[in-house]
Amino acid sequence: MAFVARQWFLLSIINVVVVCFLKPFALGEQQVPCYFIFGDSQDDNGNNNHLNTTARANYPPYGIDFPEGPTGRFTNGRNHADFIGELLGFDSYIPPFANTKGRDITKGINYASGASGILDQTGRHLGDLFSFNEQLHNHERAISRIVRLIGNRSATKEYLAKCLYTVALGNNDYINNYLLPEYYPTSHLYTPREFASLLIRHYSQQLRTLYRLGARKIAVFGLGWLGCIPAELSTDGNCVDSINEEVLLFNDKLKPLVDELNTELSGAQFLYVDVIAINLNNLSTPAEITIGNAPCCNVSAAVAGGQCIPGQIPCSNRNQYYFWDDFHPSEVVNEAYSRLAYSALSSLLDADPLAIGGLTGKNCHDKVKIQ
Ligand SMILES: *[C@@H]1O[C@H](CO)[C@@H](O)[C@H](O)[C@H]1NC(C)=O
Ligand SMILES: *[C@@H]1O[C@H](CO)[C@@H](O)[C@H](O)[C@H]1NC(C)=O
Ligand SMILES: *[C@@H]1O[C@H](CO)[C@@H](O)[C@H](O)[C@H]1NC(C)=O
Ligand SMILES: *[C@@H]1O[C@H](CO)[C@@H](O)[C@H](O)[C@H]1NC(C)=O
Repeated sequence: MAFVARQWFLLSIINVVVVCFLKPFALGEQQVPCYFIFGDSQDDNGNNNHLNTTARANYPPYGIDFPEGPTGRFTNGRNHADFIGELLGFDSYIPPFANTKGRDITKGINYASGASGILDQTGRHLGDLFSFNEQLHNHERAISRIVRLIGNRSATKEYLAKCLYTVALGNNDYINNYLLPEYYPTSHLYTPREFASLLIRHYSQQLRTLYRLGARKIAVFGLGWLGCIPAELSTDGNCVDSINEEVLLFNDKLKPLVDELNTELSGAQFLYVDVIAINLNNLSTPAEITIGNAPCCNVSAAVAGGQCIPGQIPCSNRNQYYFWDDFHPSEVVNEAYSRLAYSALSSLLDADPLAIGGLTGKNCHDKVKIQ
């Protein structure tokens, strides 16, 4: 395959044209009334803290650069949902479902859960989690609370249609399922192509459920190069091409699914966010990053290893590391990534797509091209 670079961030020196301009950060002006987050550890901000699982990050050194310290975020500082929330103009982080109360929830909820995936069994060898199906179930429960707060079902429906929804799942269906034959039978049962189809069939049902629950502006994230994360690198430190090929099979089926949902569901504005294009485009934004294939913290080597060892002092030059632990990017990378993701999905925010410079809404990712 075309992708052969050992350190993927070096690809950022490729000259790029980015037509999806970042909107100026409008201080104090919130661009959507509410933001709902469905995802895994890239977005989790504490939903797993009280679960019986090793997929938890509420201990130091996680959160070393976060004002409140360790909160369950799987990085040293802010995660994707935090940055996207900031860029949307929210004045506080969207709370985790696990501890939402009162009127908080009308601004949105973060349902993301570390180790979770599209399939219910994904990640279970690590312990409990909220799979995407369970996240949707939690959303359904939250909506009944929102209806009570707003006090009017049809007004709630109008309100929910104006919110932004981001959905980023699938990483763990590979990392914590298909690529772990010692725990999961899927790689014996399915070829990579069949497995991608299976995931997409489930995803299709789940995204339709989200639509049925009132969501209209929905950004669906593809997968990045999972074969290049430290947990998956080959012993000589190279990206594993076979894993990256599996990722592409999934993405190649997700794009047409998004088109299909837009055609079939009236008023739906699903948008595919091309994470691979984002990664190629801008890992030079944190210009100081020089270490792309090793984590900043010392990670445990146990069976379910790869997370930071509790209480150890991490590297001090955190802005030079692409990865924080064996799975998760560092805060500087999360920020660069989220800015690009935000610019890609900003077409969803405007009622009038012309307001962002004549781009038609749905195909913004198509305008991001490698020269
Ligand atoms: C937590 O999970 C482990 C392993 O799955 C299990 O052995 C243990 O009993 C569980 N603890 C609680 C309190 O449920
Ligand atoms: C409920 O909301 C709808 C739409 O916003 C509005 O037209 C209607 O008057 C409201 N009904 C009540 C009882 O407030
Ligand atoms: C991507 O990085 C390049 C080089 O640092 C920069 O010029 C460009 O503005 C960045 N693009 C975005 C969308 O951030
Ligand atoms: C990781 O552990 C090694 C040996 O146990 C130690 O020398 C090193 O300083 C540790 N690194 C960090 C970042 O804590």
